[in-house]
Parts: sequence; structure tokens; C-alpha cells
Amino acid sequence: GTVVLAYSGGLDTSCILMWLKEQGYEVITYLVCLEDISKEFVEEFIWPAVQANALYEDRYLLGTALARPCIARKLVEIAQREGAQYVSHGATGKGNDQVRFELTCYALCPKIKVIAPWRLPEFYQRFPGRRELMDYAKKHGIPVPVTPQTPWSMDENLMHISYEAGILENPKNQAPPGLYMKTCDPATSPNTPDVLEIEFERGVPVKVTNTGDGATRCSALELFVYLNEIAGKHGVGRIDIVENRFVGMKSRGIYETPAGTILYHAHLDIEAFTMDREVRKIKQGLALKFSELVYNGFWHSPECEFLRHCIARSQEAVAGTVRLSVFKGQVYILGRESPQSLYNEELVSMNVQGDYEPADATGFININSLRLKEYHRLQSKVTVK
Ligand code: ARG
Ligand code: SIN
Repeated sequence: GTVVLAYSGGLDTSCILMWLKEQGYEVITYLVCLEDISKEFVEEFIWPAVQANALYEDRYLLGTALARPCIARKLVEIAQREGAQYVSHGATGKGNDQVRFELTCYALCPKIKVIAPWRLPEFYQRFPGRRELMDYAKKHGIPVPVTPQTPWSMDENLMHISYEAGILENPKNQAPPGLYMKTCDPATSPNTPDVLEIEFERGVPVKVTNTGDGATRCSALELFVYLNEIAGKHGVGRIDIVENRFVGMKSRGIYETPAGTILYHAHLDIEAFTMDREVRKIKQGLALKFSELVYNGFWHSPECEFLRHCIARSQEAVAGTVRLSVFKGQVYILGRESPQSLYNEELVSMNVQGDYEPADATGFININSLRLKEYHRLQSKVTVK
């Protein structure tokens, strides 16, 4: 049979490639660098996450989780085009990525068969460690990656980079200073901020302007790359967390999500400015569920499709411009304006009455206090006893 392999060029997938051939498969490699699919990745996966303010366990912006369905979709597409019955990947048997890859593949192509070598005893018993992989590579003339081996594992895409495993497995160990690849150390980052104006339409950024030099970026990909550059320069987007994997264990990860972090803050701000209070509360609940589904690999589930639809609907009036400063690892909101703003300066003003009768608030408070008075009346009775 024919296998389409998600190939990274690293030692693991290089050996998997040769091993699959040894097993008699014809192998088509798909070099996953997200270069060719970066536009789709931004527009179809990152933008819905920005609209949602998607965050897993209050901190993780889901950089790896969002990339997996995008990559898996491509694998399936190639398999179908080439008439391959199998796809394969190098994810371990302990993680989230195996679940995300495979749920996407099965959702998009129910007949596809997945070969996950790291879950096959005949594979993992033959390669218990890096040594055995190196020996195998040497024996089969596989060019071993030239990049020096780091004592942790990385996963990089346009949105983020993750560092896990190796010396980071002890959650107490601090990341060594040389680890971070996408962001500068905020302690030594520039002493002058970059001030940006980010314009949103329907909850997605459509234009970024740097007020310092007037530079602008308008296409999704260009503006995202530009925000990565500015955030990276100022050390924005680093986190070090312990999270709950779908398979049931806790893991420690260090992530950098530069552009994603700026957009998270900017979007929160323009959304609060333009969205009805009660719609916002409901949407927040949907986003929590959406984040969990994305993390767990259910991008293509009916419930996740439904949530994306609802969240997109909530974003129709999320438009306007946020002005912010990027400085020393932080994003500082400086101001915002919007044609869709629900903010009424006259209504809220301390100096003008506006269309509001302060005397009405007396009744509003009286009625609301009723329940509280009853509750505490009972409480005092109970404690007297
Ligand atoms: N823990 C993060 C997640 O589950 C990052 C995973 C990184 N994947 C990897 N193959 N190194 O999304
Ligand atoms: C892996 O197990 O391949 C990486 C970690 C994860 O997927 O959670």
C-alpha cells in the first residue's frame, strides 16, 4: 500500500520513513513546514481562534492544537489525490497530537488507515531511544539533521513554538535563557515601545499600522507575520505552564505566541467595546467549550462546527481600531474607536444627564435589594438560635 507521511525532516520521521519502506510500503512524504499552507492556517484556523478569544486552561493560545487539523487536512488531501490508503505521523502515543491528527483524518476520510509507529510495539521496542534511531539512520544512509540537538523537544509553526520534554519535564526547572526562539528577553528588549493601531472587521484584524514609522500591513498573512516581528522584538507572548493533556496526564510546556498574544488583547478590547453585555457572556461560555474542543482534536466535530458558526455570528459588529503599545513583554491598550461602538459617552458621563433618570435608580436598587434583605433576615434568625 501507499502511505502519506507527515514528515518534519527530523530524526524521528526520517527513521519512520525508512522503516515504512522496510515494511513494504510506498511512501509519499509531506514536508510539514506550514509554508505552503500558512495563508489557510491564518485565515481558517487562527482567525476563528482570535474571534473566540480561544484560550485553553486560561493561558494556552492553542498554537499547536490549531495547526494539527490544518496539517492533517493536507495529508488527507494528498492521500486522496495520490490514491493512498494510509497516512502516518511521528506523534508519540502519550500526547494530544496523535489524537488531533487522527480524529481529523478519520473525520475527513472515514476509510483512511493511520499508521502511528510510536504506538506499534514492533517499532518502539526496536527504537527505545535516540541512540537506536541514530544507529538506524547511519546504517540506512539517512542524513541526520544538522541542527544541534537541544535537551528538549520543539514544535514550531507560524503561530507559536512549544518546548516540552527533556530537561523541562521537571516542572521546577527554569527554561535556560537560550531556549526562546521567537521572542527576545523582555529584560533586554528595546526601551522604547512600538505603538500600533489594529483595525478589526467582523472580529478579525484587517489592517495594522505602526504609528512610529507609518508602516502598514493589510493581508492576513502579512499582518500576522508583522505582529510576530513586533511582539518578538519586545518579548511578548511567553508562557510556562503545566496543562492537562486530553489523554489524562499533566504536562509542562513553554510556549511563545507573539502575534497571537497581541491579537488576543486587542480583540478582547474591541469586542468589549462593541458587543452587547448578555451576548458577550453567552459567547464567552461558547469560547470556553470551543477551546477545549480544539485542544482535544475535535475541530471537525459537529459541535465544533456549530460553535464556530455561533462565534462568527457574534462577531458581525466587532469592528473598529484599537491603539496599543508593545513594550517589555506586555501589551498595553491605549485607546479604541469604532463605528459600531455601544459606548455612549453622553449616557455614561458624570457631567451630563443624557437619556437617563437618576431617580429611577432608587427603585432599581430597592427591588434588587429585596432578595438580599430576606436572605439576611433569615440568616440573623438562624444565628440567634
Ligand atoms: N502541549 C501542547 C499541545 O498539546 C504542545 C504540543 C507540542 N507538540 C509537539 N509535538 N511537540 O498543544
Ligand atoms: C507528542 O506526544 O507527540 C507531543 C506532545 C503532545 O502531542 O501532546
